[in-house]
Amino acid sequence: MGVLKFLALAAVAVAAPVEERAKKPKSFLKEVGNSTWVLGNQIWNVTQNRQYANKLFYKGSDRVGKAVGHYVSYNGAASDLNWTSAVIADSGSDWINVKFTAKEGDFHWVIYDDLPGAYQYFVNHALPTLGEFRTLWRLDNASFPRGRTNIKDGVLPALDEYRGATNVQDETWQKADGSFLTKYDWSAFVRDMDFYGVYGDEVGSWYFNPGKDYYNGDQLKQELMVHRESKTGDAVQLNMIHGTHYQALSRDVFADGKVWGPWLWYLNDGSKDDAAKRAEEEEGAWPYKWFEDKAYQSRGKIQGKLILSDGRPAAGAAVFLGDNNSNLSTLDQGKDYYYTTYADSDGKFDIHDIRTGTYALYAWGNGGKIADVTTNFTQNEVVIREGKNTNLKDLTWKVTDKKDRIFQIGDFDRKTDGFKLSGPTPFEHGRISKCPANLTYTVGTSKAADWCFGQALNGTWSIVFPVKAVPSAAKLTVSLAGFSQGTSATVLLNNVKVGNITSASLVNSQDTYRGATRAGEWRLLEFPVTKEGLKQGDNRIDVKVEKASQWRGWLWDSILLEGI
Ligand SMILES: *[C@@H]1O[C@H](CO)[C@@H](O)[C@H](O)[C@H]1NC(C)=O
Ligand SMILES: *[C@@H]1O[C@H](CO)[C@@H](O)[C@H](O)[C@H]1NC(C)=O
Ligand SMILES: *[C@@H]1O[C@H](CO)[C@@H](O)[C@H](O)[C@H]1NC(C)=O
Ligand SMILES: *[C@@H]1O[C@H](CO)[C@@H](O)[C@H](O)[C@H]1NC(C)=O
Ligand SMILES: *[C@@H]1O[C@H](CO)[C@@H](O)[C@H](O)[C@H]1NC(C)=O
Ligand SMILES: *[C@@H]1O[C@H](CO)[C@@H](O)[C@H](O)[C@H]1NC(C)=O
Ligand SMILES: *[C@@H]1O[C@H](CO)[C@@H](O)[C@H](O)[C@H]1NC(C)=O
Ligand SMILES: *[C@@H]1O[C@H](CO)[C@@H](O)[C@H](O)[C@H]1NC(C)=O
Ligand SMILES: *[C@@H]1O[C@H](CO)[C@@H](O)[C@H](O)[C@H]1NC(C)=O
Ligand SMILES: *[C@@H]1O[C@H](CO)[C@@H](O)[C@H](O)[C@H]1NC(C)=O
Repeated sequence: MGVLKFLALAAVAVAAPVEERAKKPKSFLKEVGNSTWVLGNQIWNVTQNRQYANKLFYKGSDRVGKAVGHYVSYNGAASDLNWTSAVIADSGSDWINVKFTAKEGDFHWVIYDDLPGAYQYFVNHALPTLGEFRTLWRLDNASFPRGRTNIKDGVLPALDEYRGATNVQDETWQKADGSFLTKYDWSAFVRDMDFYGVYGDEVGSWYFNPGKDYYNGDQLKQELMVHRESKTGDAVQLNMIHGTHYQALSRDVFADGKVWGPWLWYLNDGSKDDAAKRAEEEEGAWPYKWFEDKAYQSRGKIQGKLILSDGRPAAGAAVFLGDNNSNLSTLDQGKDYYYTTYADSDGKFDIHDIRTGTYALYAWGNGGKIADVTTNFTQNEVVIREGKNTNLKDLTWKVTDKKDRIFQIGDFDRKTDGFKLSGPTPFEHGRISKCPANLTYTVGTSKAADWCFGQALNGTWSIVFPVKAVPSAAKLTVSLAGFSQGTSATVLLNNVKVGNITSASLVNSQDTYRGATRAGEWRLLEFPVTKEGLKQGDNRIDVKVEKASQWRGWLWDSILLEGI
C-alpha cells in the first residue's frame, strides 16, 4: 500500500514539469486574524484591517508609521468602507487579484510578483447617491516630505506651521507674516495630470490614472491631489475618483457594476524621472489588456469636424463626450464614463478607446481663433459600437454674427486667462482680494490685462465703450469662469439696472474661496438691452458690488455686448 501511494505521488510529480510547478505567483494574501490580512509580494506588503491598511512595508521600513494608512471612503471620513472579507479572486503565474468586499462594492488589488505597487480598481454594487468617492493613502511624513503634481512640486508645509497660524476658514490658516497655508494650493486640473504623489529621498508613492474615463467632469474638473493633514501631520496622497471640489453640483447615482480604474499605485525610490517614465508606459498600455472585464474591453472610436455656422473651423474647441440627454453642465456630469479632447486648427477631432454606449457630444470655445464664440455645440444620441469608428463627419455649430459685436473683454473660453493676476499659478488663496475694488476699462484703449481675473470687493468696475449706430436691440453676455456665493452685484447700463450677479440666482461653487484663480463652475448670464438703453457716442456699463464677503465673488471669463 505504502509503496503504491509513493509511486502514485512520484508519477504526479513527474507529470508536472518543474517550470510549471515553479510558475505559482509569489504575490500573496494571508489572513492573519479577525478582519486582518497581509497582502503584497517580495517587494512590499500591506496590513489591511477592517477599515484601514495601517502598515506598508517597503525598502526596510513601515511607510505608514503613525499615519492612518490606506482606505476607501465616500462623503467624508464618516463613511470609510468596512471590508467584510478578502479572497484571491483570480490569479496567473506571476500575479494575484485580491478582492476586498464591502457592502457598497469590491476593491481590488492586482499584484504582480515584480511590481513595486499594485493596480487597483473598485466595482460598484451599492454605493449610495453621492458626490465624493475616493481612495487614499495617509503616509509616514518623514518618508514622504514632499508632494508633486503636474503644476506644483515641493515640501508639504510642516504641521508646526499650521499650529503657529490662525485658522481663517476651513483648512485655511493665516501665518504671522500674512501669508496663507491651505491644502487647496495642492489642487490641479485632473484631466491634465500626468502623475502625482508624495516622495522623499528614500521612497516615493505615486498614482498613475491613465485613460481617466471613470472620473467625473470635463476638461475643467479640478481636485485636491496631495496635502499635509492639518490635524495629524500625515502626508496625504488622494485619489479623488469622484470629486465635488470646484463645482456647483456633484450628486450621482451609479449603476451596479460601474468600475473605477484600474489605476496604478506605484512605489519607487523617490525618483520623479522614474515615475514620469512609468506614467508614460501606463498611458501607452491603456486600456489595460490584462483586465478581463467584458464591458471595459468593449470600446470604439469617434471622429468628426466642427464647423461654425459662419464658415470658420471650430479651431481648438474643447470637445467632451458625456451624458446623453442631460440637463447637467458638462462639469457636473459624473454617473458614467467621460472622454475629452480638443479640436485641431481645422476643427477636426477624434477620440479612441471609448466604452461602447450612447453619449452626447459637447463642444465649446477654448479661446484662440474662436475666442468670440459664445454658443456651444451639443449633439445627443451619439452611439459608440464595439470595434467601430463613429464618423460624425461635418457638424455645424451655430454662432452669432461677429459683426454685431459692440465690445468684448476677454476670450470666451470658460477661463480667466489673459486677465490681470490670472496667473502664474491656477490656485492661490486670497489672490482675488488683490484685484481692485474699482476699475475702469475703456474699449479701444484698454487691454484684457487691465481687467482683473476676479471680483470680490465692494466697488464698481466700469466699462466705457463707444456706439456708432444704436442697434434695435442688444444682449449683454456675462460669462463667469466661476462663482462663490456671498458677494453680489448690480449690472447697470448708463446708470439703469439691466442685470445682476447674485446668490439668489446662482448656486454656490467653492471656486473663489478655495483659491481657484483660473476656472471653476462656468456660468452664463444673458441680459437683454433695449434700443433706449444705448446711445450714440460713449456709453457705460457698471458692475457694482454692493454686498461683499471676503474671498467670495466670481472669476471672469468674458463680458460682451452684441446687437441682436
Ligand atoms: C471580529 O471583529 C468584529 C469587529 O471588530 C467583532 O464584532 C467580532 O466579534 C470579532 N470576532 C471574533 C471572532 O473575534
Ligand atoms: C512584510 O514585510 C516585512 C518587511 O520586509 C517582513 O518582515 C514581513 O515578514 C512581511 N510580511 C509577510 C506576510 O510577508
Ligand atoms: C464602518 O464601520 C464604522 C465603525 O463601525 C462605522 O462608523 C462606519 O459608519 C462604517 N462605514 C460605513 C460606510 O458604513
Ligand atoms: C509628522 O507627524 C507627526 C505626528 O505623527 C508630527 O508631530 C510632525 O510634526 C509631522 N511632521 C511634519 C513635517 O509635519
Ligand atoms: C438620448 O437622448 C435623446 C434625447 O435627445 C433621447 O431621445 C434618446 O432616447 C436617448 N437615448 C438613449 C439611449 O438614452
Ligand atoms: C434634471 O433632470 C433630473 C431627472 O433626469 C431631475 O431630477 C432634475 O431635477 C433636473 N435638474 C434640473 C436642474 O433641471
Ligand atoms: C450651452 O449654452 C447654453 C446657453 O446658450 C447654456 O444654457 C448651456 O448650459 C450650454 N450647454 C453646455 C452643455 O455647456
Ligand atoms: C471705490 O469707489 C467708490 C466710489 O467712488 C469709493 O467710495 C470707494 O472708496 C472706492 N474704493 C476704493 C478701495 O478705492
Ligand atoms: C437677477 O437677475 C435674474 C436674471 O439673471 C433675475 O431672474 C432676477 O430677478 C434678478 N434679481 C434681482 C434681485 O434683480
Ligand atoms: C460692502 O458694502 C456693504 C454695503 O455698503 C456693507 O454692508 C458691507 O459690510 C461691505 N462689505 C465689505 C467686505 O466691505
